[in-house]
Amino acid sequence: MIRIAILASGSGTNAQRLMEHFAGSGAATVALVGCDQPQARVVQRAWDMGVPGYLFNGRQLREGTVQLELQRARIDLIVLAGFMRLIPAEMVQAWPERIINIHPSLLPKHGGKGMYGHRVHEAVLAAGDTESGITIHLVNERYDEGRVLFQARCPVLPGDDADTLAGRIHALEHAHYPEVVAKFAAGLHG
Ligand code: GAR
Repeated sequence: MIRIAILASGSGTNAQRLMEHFAGSGAATVALVGCDQPQARVVQRAWDMGVPGYLFNGRQLREGTVQLELQRARIDLIVLAGFMRLIPAEMVQAWPERIINIHPSLLPKHGGKGMYGHRVHEAVLAAGDTESGITIHLVNERYDEGRVLFQARCPVLPGDDADTLAGRIHALEHAHYPEVVAKFAAGLHG
């Protein structure tokens, strides 16, 4: 059984879909939801699903405490779902090609430090792009630069604002993320 840790910082709608998907799976399980924001809704979502939650701060992430905790929980695969911090190089090396992220644009467009959530959609609109989408990729030491596993596109419509675009992007994420992670996990040997 592949043991997955989800790391998230916000609402956690993607984390919710992942937990639901793997609750019915014999091949992989969400063993833990880690979060760096004590007020984030994802903490409650994990609680409601009966998945252990783990709260930590930025220092604990940088100094290796989070890595130890995930190793203690025998995590095989780390899945970022709206996680806003950089994964330390030591963690990338400890889970080589075993950390997956989702980004709400068609990378390499509109990625990098500080580009998350609504800021990404605002950048897409400000650039006048006529399409946007999602990118699911492996995580390396730099923001949003690891190998791309999957992309899906959607139109940017006249009259869109960051909220309407975010809604379209979230629908794409929810439709694809669990399935892409499941396929990836199936290729691993836990
Ligand atoms: C998602 O749209 C995800 O792609 C994005 O944060 C949102 C989290 O939503 N991630 C990033 O911007 C990473 N740079 P959720 O909390 O409802 O899953």
